[in-house]
Amino acid sequence: MVAHDNVTANQRWWDERAPLHAKAPFYRIDEIVNGASSLDDFELNEFEVGQAHSLVHLQCHIGTDTISWARQGLEVTGLDFSQPALDEAQRIAYACGISARWVLADLYDAVAALGAAYDIVYTGKGALTWLHDIERWAMVVADLLKPGGRLYLVEFHPITWALDADSWSIALDYFSDGKPEIQHEPQGSYAVGPVATQWNTTAEWQHTMGDIVSSIAGAGLRLDWFHEFPFTRFALAENFERTRDGAIYRPPANQPRLPLMFSLCATKLS
Ligand SMILES: C[S@@+](CC[C@H](N)C(=O)[O-])C[C@H]1O[C@@H](n2cnc3c(N)ncnc32)[C@H](O)[C@@H]1O
Repeated sequence: MVAHDNVTANQRWWDERAPLHAKAPFYRIDEIVNGASSLDDFELNEFEVGQAHSLVHLQCHIGTDTISWARQGLEVTGLDFSQPALDEAQRIAYACGISARWVLADLYDAVAALGAAYDIVYTGKGALTWLHDIERWAMVVADLLKPGGRLYLVEFHPITWALDADSWSIALDYFSDGKPEIQHEPQGSYAVGPVATQWNTTAEWQHTMGDIVSSIAGAGLRLDWFHEFPFTRFALAENFERTRDGAIYRPPANQPRLPLMFSLCATKLS
């Protein structure tokens, strides 16, 4: 059972950050309003929408990825537990001329809150670490999919949880005892830097690759493919180089590589 305090702390943290993120250059809102996609090139290349009509984006934050999927011809729904995030999502979607459904709910209440089944469940970078129970998450995903529907998951690789960004050495246990990593001073955020904020306590959970893949299989989904990438969205160490389009960081070419992001597609068979 997760402590209610942890969820409340996380919600306050995200509620305060959402309006800041909607103004932050990191989220490129002006470019998105002008037609740019917030999805990475590899996402658009590796995942085929095919005949799918509907997509739900879990933990959609300020909706940039949700809007980008709508531009691929999908009818989209974004779900998040932060009302300020959904307010920003709605405002940005309106500016983009995109119609979307925005639903306020905790991830674990998604099935009741959404009341529908989807062709695609998408969940993007930086979502799973906020959830305490990965097996229950996978069951929610399976329940949200129509038979033949697909989960498309894109995340930071759990190995990056264990690495110290400055020294690139192993700083935290890769394996998890199920307890959250509580931090009391994450002022500002990854998108706005260390700006003054009122709510600065977070609770995050590590989920190993084994736990993630086994949870998906355990929920009755068939793994179609699994990809790992030697690049990520952040400068994880000082010597990381930014790619030409500015969206992706990677270690210098002479440095041995690790997987820093991963993606997978899994299908609900019946
Ligand atoms: C890092 S953001 C997702 C980022 C997204 N990939 C993006 O860049 O737009 C994580 C989101 O998860 C949401 N979240 C965290 N815990 C949640 C929960 N238990 N239920 C629903 N949403 C949650 C937060 O409000 C936040 O918007």
